[in-house]
Amino acid sequence: MIKAGIVGGTGYSGAELLRFLALHPQVKVTTVTSRTDAGSLVSSMFPNMRKHVDLRFVQPEVATLAACDVVFFATPHGTAMQMAPALLKSGVKVIDLSADFRIKDAATFRKWYKMEHTCPELLGQAVYGLPELNRDLIKSCNLLANPGCYPTAVQLGFMPLLHHGLVETDNLVADAKSGVSGAGKKIELGYMLCEVSESFKAYGINGHRHLPEILQGLNSVSNSKVGLTFMPHLVPMIRGIQASLYATLLTEQVDLQRIFEDFYKDQPFVDVLETGLSPETRSVRGSNNCQISVCRPQNGKTAVVLVVIDNLVKGAAGQAVQNMNLMFGFPEAAGLDIIAAIP
Ligand SMILES: NC(=O)c1ccc[n+]([C@@H]2O[C@H](COP(=O)([O-])OP(=O)(O)OC[C@H]3O[C@@H](n4cnc5c(N)ncnc54)[C@H](OP(=O)(O)O)[C@@H]3O)[C@@H](O)[C@H]2O)c1
Repeated sequence: MIKAGIVGGTGYSGAELLRFLALHPQVKVTTVTSRTDAGSLVSSMFPNMRKHVDLRFVQPEVATLAACDVVFFATPHGTAMQMAPALLKSGVKVIDLSADFRIKDAATFRKWYKMEHTCPELLGQAVYGLPELNRDLIKSCNLLANPGCYPTAVQLGFMPLLHHGLVETDNLVADAKSGVSGAGKKIELGYMLCEVSESFKAYGINGHRHLPEILQGLNSVSNSKVGLTFMPHLVPMIRGIQASLYATLLTEQVDLQRIFEDFYKDQPFVDVLETGLSPETRSVRGSNNCQISVCRPQNGKTAVVLVVIDNLVKGAAGQAVQNMNLMFGFPEAAGLDIIAAIP
């Protein structure tokens, strides 16, 4: 049994970490932090945790967290980088759900996140936690950068095409939509019920922070430089990401269905649907699964890949638990064997 701590336990990703870790056979959650709710019962904020988590929120302090074997940061960017160096020195493994350790280049991080990195020397040792890309590196790492939600969906969709060199790489298009929980648990006009319901819009149209992360990942599997138009949208639902991805094929003599099925045949959380099916966000809601389908409309030159994940699960907490399993040598699906809830 390992001891786990969650920094940012009152947020949406923190709540999802609790949901999975509370039932994990090899993990005991010993510390859950909140600056604003320190002292109150976790189950008073999350009644779904009654009888599963008997803890009170505590202040996020290195001295307390250092008693854990693993600490998850489900906090805004700029937080994990403050505490990770001391925790790592104490022998604690760190899994960061924020962007602090995802981007290898400190200048690129500064440009997109508008802050100076406080421990750029750790960027080299951090492993980007997309198991379908980096499983072996994840197994031996102490500092894990958990991917963003859009980057998970977009990379999983484009990876087979780029790995096999099947498409023009300079003009990929990712048209992606997210539910409102992707913005976290904050009170802001743009995320209130009357503002988002019955409406649908693109945002971040001049450049979204996930773009450099997606490009970094796609370039690592592509032989030639990737150019990507990434357009995120906010849809009036709570959970889920759907990404429609477009790429121009270099050859039409290709069996895309077979390529995707082969590419993902050993991946426990990626499910390639049969030809002609269109994945729905509700089919992965609350689960760590990614469902993908691929097609070539009118047998033309454009490959279209449709991807769905739950932004809070495969896009955040579920993937973080999958990574923890790999880092500690547990079965990869431990604690994650959950079927999506429909409707
Ligand atoms: N939401 C998603 O779908 C999603 C998907 C992938 C990745 N992520 C990333 O995961 C992280 C968490 O996202 P979220 O949506 O769960 O956020 P959230 O709902 O806004 O929750 C943030 C949590 O962080 C705590 N916190 C804030 N500032 C802190 C600080 N300086 N020190 C310690 N704790 C602090 C907050 O609690 P207190 O204020 O009480 O301390 C709160 O519990 C973000 O970096 C986000 O980008 C989110």
